Amino acid sequence: MKIFTKRKDLSQYLEQLRSDGKTIGFVPTLGALHNGHLSLLVRAQQETDKVVCSIFVNPTQFNDPKDLEKYPRPITADIEKLEQAGCDALFNPEVSEMYAGNEQWHLEIGELEHLLEGKFRPGHYQGVTQVVFKLFNIVKPDKAFFGQKDYQQVLVIQKMVEILKLPVKLVMCPILRETDGLAMSSRNIHLSAGDRQHALVLSKTLNWLMENFDRTKMPALTRECAAMISAEPGVELEYFEIANGENLHKSDQQTKEIVALVAVKVGVTRLIDNMILA
Ligand code: PAJ
Repeated sequence: MKIFTKRKDLSQYLEQLRSDGKTIGFVPTLGALHNGHLSLLVRAQQETDKVVCSIFVNPTQFNDPKDLEKYPRPITADIEKLEQAGCDALFNPEVSEMYAGNEQWHLEIGELEHLLEGKFRPGHYQGVTQVVFKLFNIVKPDKAFFGQKDYQQVLVIQKMVEILKLPVKLVMCPILRETDGLAMSSRNIHLSAGDRQHALVLSKTLNWLMENFDRTKMPALTRECAAMISAEPGVELEYFEIANGENLHKSDQQTKEIVALVAVKVGVTRLIDNMILA
């Protein structure tokens, strides 16, 4: 695997591939890679000729400085995982390579970035669109691969792509879970053994909802799910919403795509999960 820390060097490498007629797949990450990340890489390998993965802990998307500070950065293990998975290139820049000092600009993509996650993490999606816009400009991928794990992030980036007419196709890949149902996340390592058990209430509740889903009873089901999660010791509910899968408004019976989205704090660790219901 080729490893690049400078955008110029990565651009040159990709220019050559493009002139050889290769299609480029891109998997952006914050690192601390797990099988969820690697599943995006596998999908990218199936759909494009050459795959670039980025590992960049983007400071502008962390609304909580403590979260940024303690974000795991096991770069040696990450490189090994990418090598083993057959990734073609890694882009692993320093902050100074991506940002010219304290940049004041951001994109405004509208209400999608202010709902749910946006409400609980003000400015988060402006940091995400800022860095993904920069990364897309460097990599110029034919296709970029994102996880359903961050469902709202996919919608936000899709909106950015539409508004700016960026020449990239987004592919949303399914959530990878541990065998007990916990959605894989780089933040799971912060969970104590007890918290890890309590965190299972997320996937259990989403599975229960899937089994009991009824379009006419969505407000009652929402309340019931919220109560199930709040009843779990050590778990603090931020939101539980059954939403229109396209705009994340509270869902109504007529909505075609419906997704349930949840965010909690388990101890000091913030976790999100979701399930596509219809
Ligand atoms: P990060 O949290 O590292 O996630 C990178 C990609 O992996 C995202 O598209 C995310 O949805 C996906 N992913 C995470 N957990 C997953 C799981 N359990 N199953 C499947 N896919 C999973 O999301 C980011 O980084 C950043 O915001 C980024 C887009 C890189 C911009 O900085």
